[in-house]
Amino acid sequence: MILDRIDELLKEVSELSAQNAEEVEKLRLKYLSKKGEINALMADFRNIAADQKKTVGMKINELKQTAIAKINELREQAETADAENDDLDLTRTPYPIRLGTRHPLTIVKNDIINIFSRMGFTLAEGPEVDDDLHVFTKLNFAADHPARDMQDTFFVEMNPNDVTKNILLRSHTSNDQSHYMETHQPPIRVICPGRVYRNEAISARAHCFFHQVEGLYVDKGVSFTDLKQVLLTFAREMFGPDTKIRLRPSYFPFTEPSAEMDISCNICGGKGCGFCKHTGWVEILGCGMVDPNVLEACGIDSSVYSGYAFGMGVERITNLKYRVSDLRMFSENDCRFLREFESAY
Ligand code: DAH
Repeated sequence: MILDRIDELLKEVSELSAQNAEEVEKLRLKYLSKKGEINALMADFRNIAADQKKTVGMKINELKQTAIAKINELREQAETADAENDDLDLTRTPYPIRLGTRHPLTIVKNDIINIFSRMGFTLAEGPEVDDDLHVFTKLNFAADHPARDMQDTFFVEMNPNDVTKNILLRSHTSNDQSHYMETHQPPIRVICPGRVYRNEAISARAHCFFHQVEGLYVDKGVSFTDLKQVLLTFAREMFGPDTKIRLRPSYFPFTEPSAEMDISCNICGGKGCGFCKHTGWVEILGCGMVDPNVLEACGIDSSVYSGYAFGMGVERITNLKYRVSDLRMFSENDCRFLREFESAY
């Protein structure tokens, strides 16, 4: 019966599949060409009773449309598959894998570590979450020193009975001095890089966290001259052999005498520019002779030993080396910024 045959063909056509354009063409010939299956039905159509012609005619038409749609669909599939296969060149060299870059602060931190390790300093690291005892008390901070204030320091836990037990985010890496001297006797030669936190509004020039490197040298007969020579060597290694330094008297609770060190501005070569506020000098660190009170508080005999210490800001040094004008760039993780340091290491 012709209707059964049409149903059979409908089922067949809707289940057709092909691997490539050639197979699709074969199917087209089989069903849709002049000598194809569908045209063959037309021959039978002539012999059908007049009252059935309409139904059967519509059915044949449905079959024809289904077949056309299916063949077109298969042709499209085959064409895209062919196009993809054309692109597949197994002999092509692979796309280069984009390596990550070191963060500029890490590059500079490593530079600092390398310079000091060549001078005999070893690496030590202390905690970022610490207590008042190590961040302030042992470092000779007076009980009412402003750095202990909430406005500067982030507190994690307050102890109402004993301030030295307050838990806080360290506001400088000098806490590494207390930890190291508590657990080691001289000779001590360490540098301690790390992150520090201060309650500052974030802007181009200030951030609530930044990085420092602390240095500590304690032995018999250590003098200010030793400190000055080490810092001069550091400045020249870091910024070039023509770099000049100057030490200005200053105050830190944990050093006596204390100084701040400037280097000749390496952006303008000391002539004066916006970066050095037209002075030709840029401050890069604080330093001094370790106060005997600090040595004693940490269990080191100050009548036998003396020492020097220094602390520098890694962001400041990075700005000088790479001219980064906005501190926020360091923590925004903008890949375009980070990629600029691709060749640095
Ligand atoms: N801790 C000081 C600061 O954060 C920097 C400093 C100054 C560290 C003098 C020292 C030092 O070790 O001797 O501003």
